This record gives sequence, structure tokens and C-alpha cells, in this order.
Amino acid sequence: MASDADQGARSGGVTESPTDAPLAPYPPNCGPPWLHFVHQMREPLAFAEEALATRDVVRMNLLGNGDIYGVGHPDHAKRVLLTEREQFRKTEDFRIAFGEGLLTVEGEEWQRQRDVLQPLFTRDSVMDYADGMVEQVQRRIDRWRDGDRLDLQAEFTDLALDVLFATVLGRELALDGDRELRESAAHLHDWFKPTSYFLPEWVPTPARRRFRAAKETIRAEADRLLAEKAGGGPTDPAAAEDLLSLLVGLREAGVADSAMLTDERLRDQMVTMIFAGHDTTTTTLTFSFWALANNPEVRERFHAEVDALDGPPTLDELAELDVTERVVTETLRLYPPVHSLPRETTTDVVFDGHRIPADERVLVGIRHVQRDPRFYDDPEQFRPSRWDGDLRSDLHDFAYAPFGGGPRICIGRQFALLEAKLTLATIGQQYDLGWLGENDADGEPPVSPEMTLRMEPGQEFLVTER
Ligand code: HEM
Repeated sequence: MASDADQGARSGGVTESPTDAPLAPYPPNCGPPWLHFVHQMREPLAFAEEALATRDVVRMNLLGNGDIYGVGHPDHAKRVLLTEREQFRKTEDFRIAFGEGLLTVEGEEWQRQRDVLQPLFTRDSVMDYADGMVEQVQRRIDRWRDGDRLDLQAEFTDLALDVLFATVLGRELALDGDRELRESAAHLHDWFKPTSYFLPEWVPTPARRRFRAAKETIRAEADRLLAEKAGGGPTDPAAAEDLLSLLVGLREAGVADSAMLTDERLRDQMVTMIFAGHDTTTTTLTFSFWALANNPEVRERFHAEVDALDGPPTLDELAELDVTERVVTETLRLYPPVHSLPRETTTDVVFDGHRIPADERVLVGIRHVQRDPRFYDDPEQFRPSRWDGDLRSDLHDFAYAPFGGGPRICIGRQFALLEAKLTLATIGQQYDLGWLGENDADGEPPVSPEMTLRMEPGQEFLVTER
């Protein structure tokens, strides 16, 4: 974290004339710029965090790949995501990877896609998936036994896919089967492996080959399901059991912008939803249980809350899950799955008197902002009760942004929050999960050096039946 002297140097983001401002500086604490590349390859998250500890706008050097910039103040996040969003486009690599899906398209195309999809992701609409979610959770945890040692990250990867395939594609995955689809979903993240992230797109690294094969497998499955659902899909969200059927129904009834619902677009949309929805949810669940296991007092209150429910959690009882909700909120603050948001500048921009030139990559440090002592007391502490009072309304509107912000805020956030609450409650009623892994000297869990936050593979939890 920055010293008090540094804090004074942080203006919090006043726009100045871009022409004569000096370039954002390299951080003084990260060694010579020619070594940045090595740090970045090894530990992208730790490196960006270290750099942003010195000031709210920094430049990192990536050898032959030029520079990449980091910004770490909520004012800056707000400018990038909301007030000056025209000056920051999505990065080219996402577009190449995910084609015409909602996550990647821009401008009018994005607006038209979002208009079609948004009504299907409102809080009310996603509530229809609640029973299906609980069913998927129960099906999987029925197999857990007292004394099992579980790699929760792997278990929740499977669970998140069970739920996504059932609710988005209308396809129930076999508990122990459908390995090709499951592995394909996991390999969608291989596009962003640090080892190939900085290489030109045409270089066929092994990770990129895996990514392309995975994308084709999921597109082929979407094709098969599209053919199966053709003719007579529902048009009423309440009557639809999955998102794809509903989109097909809307297309056939001609009630939505049909140009946004061609087979090609629907295929891209399905790949996008699987990519955007599964790793993020997995991480949220895994770190929530890690946090509970490491904070006995909170765990006790959580168990008391879910035990007070009348059987498995239902929609009507969601409002009673206060502790559970705050556990998720606080987990997403400390361990936001999307720890940094990437953009590219469309023009020269100035942050705190320092210029970032046009066509440069910028990372908005979400995890950094959410652990900033200027906005949170004891920011490194897992303390769900901090959300009990007025913190939310008093907080800078971009100091908590695990789902991003502005018009491109995560469309799946209500879905994800519902799934997280229901999953935590269903599991918490039946099991206690103890942490068998090792935290570091600061009490932090072992995380993988990936572009999204993940727990290191192979970390185990002990299952105790309650
Ligand atoms: C806890 C779980 C989740 C987290 C933390 C999360 C986080 C995010 C973030 C930070 C963004 C903004 C990206 C940007 O501005 O560059 C985003 C966008 C998006 N997310 Fe999520 N997400 C989660 C779950 C989901 C789920 C379950 C789905 C789908 C079922 C989903 C679908 C999407 C889509 C399609 C976008 C692009 C929206 C647009 O650009 O209009 N996400 N998500």
C-alpha cells in the first residue's frame, strides 16, 4: 500500500490537456523496466498490484510488446467504464477469441444485443432458475461423504458448468461424464494464458490450439441444441426452462431484433456465456468457502442462518439470507474473479497529470481498488459485517466493482449472485468445509497466476457432515 506521502501525489483523476503531459511513469519498486516482462509472465496479478502500490497510474514495460498501463483509483475506473468510456475500447484479443458475443462487440451492435438479452437477465427473470440451481447443487453434493477431502475449485468448476449448461443451454450434463464439454469449457480460458497473451495472434501456441478446439466443440454443441429446439420455442421467460430455448422462441415469434438472433450470433453468445459465467462463479464459490473456513465466527453465524430455514433454500427465503449475502459481497471484494479489467485507449488520455497515448492497453485494477485503505477500514480483513451499515451508500460508486461498471456492467450478475447464495446455503445446511491447504504469511490463500483469479489446483477442503 502507498505511503501517506504518496497519497498526496494522487489527485484522483482530473482530466488535463493530453498533448503536453508526460507519460505515466514506470513504478520505482518493480526493478528495471526490461524485467517487467518476466514478472508479468510469472505473476500478472502480483506484478500489477505491486506497481499500483506506488501510485494510481503506472506504466509497465513488456519488451517487444510495448507498454501496458495500470490505473488504480475509483475515479479512474469511473472514467474508463462510464464517463469517458468512448475513449476506451475492448481489447483486440477478446474480439478475436469470442467473435460477435456480447462481451466483445462494441457500439450499436453491442447496444442491440444488450437490448435483446437484458430483459432475460433482470433480477426477476433469473429467479425462474432458482429451483433448477438448487437441484443441480443437491445432485452433486449428494455424493459427498463425511471425511472426504475435496479439491473445491475442481468440484465447483463442475458445478458451475452443471448450472450453466442446464439454465443457459437446456442441457443436463452427466455428473461424471460429458468430459469433452467440461474440458472444452475450461480450455476457453487458455486463450489468455500468460505464456501466449503477449504473442501475435497468429502464433499457434499449444494453449491457443486447445482454445480453438474447445470453442469448436462448444459451438457444435450449441448447433445441435439449436436444431433440437427449432420450431415452437417459448416466448415467455416464465415458461422457458433455459435461455437458448427462449432466444429461439423470440426469434421464431419475431418479437425481438431478429438480426441479433441468427444462428451464428447465438453460437457466439453461448460460447461467451459459458466463458464469462463459469470460472467467475467457480472462484466466487471456492473463495467464499475458503473465507468461511478461515473465519470461525462468521462461519458460525452463517450456519445458524441457514439452519433456521425451513428445508432447502427457496426464493421466498432469499431475503432472510443476510449473512450469506454479505459473505458473498465481502468475498467478491477481497477476491474479485476479474481482478483487472482490460481496455485499449482510442485517444491520448491523462490521469493524475500523466499521459497514456492512444492505442495502448490499460488495466483497471479492480482488486487493488477494493483493497484500498482510502475506502475501506482494515481492507485486508475478511469482515462481512462491514456491509451491515451505510458503507454501501457512503462508498465511492466505483470502489466496489467486482462486476465492472457503467453500461457494460456484467449482465449475469443477478444470475451469479442468486447462484452463489443458493449454493452456499444448500451446502451450508448439510456440510461444514474445513480448509486443509496452507495460507501464506499474510493469511492469504494460494492463488494461481492467471488472468482471472483462481485458487491453485489441488488445494483441499475436509468435508464434515452436519
Ligand atoms: C461472480 C460471477 C461473475 C463475475 C465476478 C463477473 C464479472 C464480470 C465483469 C467484471 C464484467 C465486465 C467486463 C468488462 O467490462 O470488460 C462482466 C461482463 C459480462 N459477464 Fe459476468 N461475471 C460473473 C458471472 C457471469 C455470469 C453467470 C454470466 C452469464 C450467465 C456472465 C456474463 C457476462 C457477459 C455476457 C458480460 C459482458 C456484458 C457486456 O459487455 O454487455 N457473467 N462480468
